[in-house]
Amino acid sequence: MAAWIPLGYLGATALFILGLKKLGHPRTAPRGNQYGALGMLLAVITTVVDMGLSGERGVSWGLIVAGLVIGSIIGLVMAVRAKMTDMPELVALFNGFGGAASALVALSETWKYVEDPTIALPVGLDRQVIVVAAGFSALVGWTTLTGSILAMFKLKGGLEIRGTWYPTPDWGPPWLNPVKALMLLAVVMLILLSIGDPTNWIYLLTIVALSCLLGLALVLPIGGADMPVVVSLLNSLSGIAAAFTGFIIGNPVLIVAGSLVGASGLILTFIMCRAMNRTLPDVLFKAYGGSTREKVTRTKMGSDPEEVAMIMDGAQKVIIVPGYGMAVSQCQHQVKELGDLLYERYGTEVKYAIHPVAGRMPGHMNVLLAEANVPYEQLIEMDEINPGFPECDVALVVGANDTCNPAAREGEGPLAGMPILDVDLARTVVIVKRSLSVGYAGVDNDLFYLDKTMMLFGDGRAMMTELNSAVKDA
Ligand code: TAP
Repeated sequence: MAAWIPLGYLGATALFILGLKKLGHPRTAPRGNQYGALGMLLAVITTVVDMGLSGERGVSWGLIVAGLVIGSIIGLVMAVRAKMTDMPELVALFNGFGGAASALVALSETWKYVEDPTIALPVGLDRQVIVVAAGFSALVGWTTLTGSILAMFKLKGGLEIRGTWYPTPDWGPPWLNPVKALMLLAVVMLILLSIGDPTNWIYLLTIVALSCLLGLALVLPIGGADMPVVVSLLNSLSGIAAAFTGFIIGNPVLIVAGSLVGASGLILTFIMCRAMNRTLPDVLFKAYGGSTREKVTRTKMGSDPEEVAMIMDGAQKVIIVPGYGMAVSQCQHQVKELGDLLYERYGTEVKYAIHPVAGRMPGHMNVLLAEANVPYEQLIEMDEINPGFPECDVALVVGANDTCNPAAREGEGPLAGMPILDVDLARTVVIVKRSLSVGYAGVDNDLFYLDKTMMLFGDGRAMMTELNSAVKDA
C-alpha cells in the first residue's frame, strides 16, 4: 500500500500542472480549475492515507476529520455567498489563509523536533536546517497573512463597524521605507542567530511578530491603481511559504504545489507591473497609491439612449471598453447583445478593448465577456487595439474609468505612467456610468468633459438595456 503514496503525489502534481496549463485561456480555464481542485483532493487523500499508514506520528483522527469537515463547510459557505464582485477580496483572504496555514504547520513541526530531540527528523535534514526553513516560512507566511487581510479591506475600500464606515488608509510616510528594510534585516539576522541556538524559541516568536508587522507596513501605503501588483505578489508569497513548509515536513507535493503557486504568482506579478509600467521595488517602496480621492467639481449634461442610438446608426467601427462597472452591474449579456445588434443591423465592426488591470482581478473582463459568449477573437488587448481608436467612430465605455483616464499620461499622481486605452482619440465617446465620480485610484477623469463625450448616467445593466431598445427602435 505504501508504494501507492508517491504515485498519489505524482498524480496530484500532474493535475496541478495540467490545471495551470488550461488556466492560460479563458475557454479552457474552468476545466483548469477543476483539474486543480481534483489535484488538491488527491493530495489530501494521499496525505491522510500516508498518515494512517505511518501510524507513528500520534495522529488524532478525530481532529483531522473535524478540521476537514469544518474547513470544507467554511470554504463552501464563503464561496457560495461571495458575489462575483467580491471575488478579488475572497482571493486575497484565501492567499492570507494559505500563508498562515503553512506558517502554522511549520511552527508546530519545528516545535515538535526542538522539544523532543529523540524524534526522527525527515531524511537529509538536521535541526539547524529545520529552524532556517521555519524562519523563512514564518517570514513569508505571516507577512502574507497580515498583508492579505489588509489588502482585502483595501479592495473593499474599508471596514464597516456597527453601521459606521471606516475607509482603509493609504498611509506611508517616507520614514516607513527604512523601517521596512530594517524589519526585514532583523528577521534575517534572527534566522541566522537561530542556527547557533535552534532550541531558543524567542527567535522564532520574534520573527513571527516582526513578519506580521512587515506585512502591514508593506501593504499600508499601497493603494490606487497598484493593488493588482500587491494581490498577485501576496498570492506568490503564499505558495513560497507552502514550499518552505513542505521542506520541513518532508512532503514533496507541498514543495511542488507551493513552488508552482510561487512561480506563477511571480510571473503574474511581473505581468501586472508591466501593465502598470512600474517596477516591483517602485510599487513596494515608492507608493504611488497614497492618494486622497479627488473631489469632482465640474458638471456635465447627460445624454439619453435615443440620442446615442442615432449616433450608433451611422457607425462603421465601434470599440466597447468594459471596466469594473460592467462587473458590478453584471451587464455583460446586454453589452454582447448591443454588439450583435449593431453587426446585424448596420454591419458595424465591433471589438472589445481589454485593459490588463480593468476590473478587480487579472482577466476579469475576459471571464465576464467569455461567460456572455463574446467570441474570443473580438477581445483585443490594449497594445493591439490602441492604434485603432483614431479610426473608430464610437468608443463605448461601460463602467471603466481609471483604465481610460488621460491623467495617467501625466508625470504625477496615483495613475502616473500607467498605460491606458486611448479612448479620447475616438471620434465620439459614449460613457455608461452612474455619475461623474472618480474610479478606483481616486483621480478625476478629463475624458468625461470632452465635447465629443456623451454621458449615459445610470446603472450599467439598466442603461445598456435601454440603449439596446433604442437601437432596435431606431
Ligand atoms: P474603475 O476605475 O474602478 O472605475 C469603475 C467605474 O465603474 C466607477 O467610476 C463607477 O462610476 C462605475 N460603476 C460602478 N458601479 C457601476 C454600475 N452599477 N453601473 C455602471 N457603472 C458603475 O474601473 P476600471 O477602469 O476597470 O479600472 C480598474 C481599477 O481597479 C484600476 O485602477 C486598477 O488598477 C484597479 N484594480 C485592479 C485590479 C485587477 S487585478 N484588475 C485589482 C485591484 C485594483 P460610478 O460610481 O459613477 O457609477
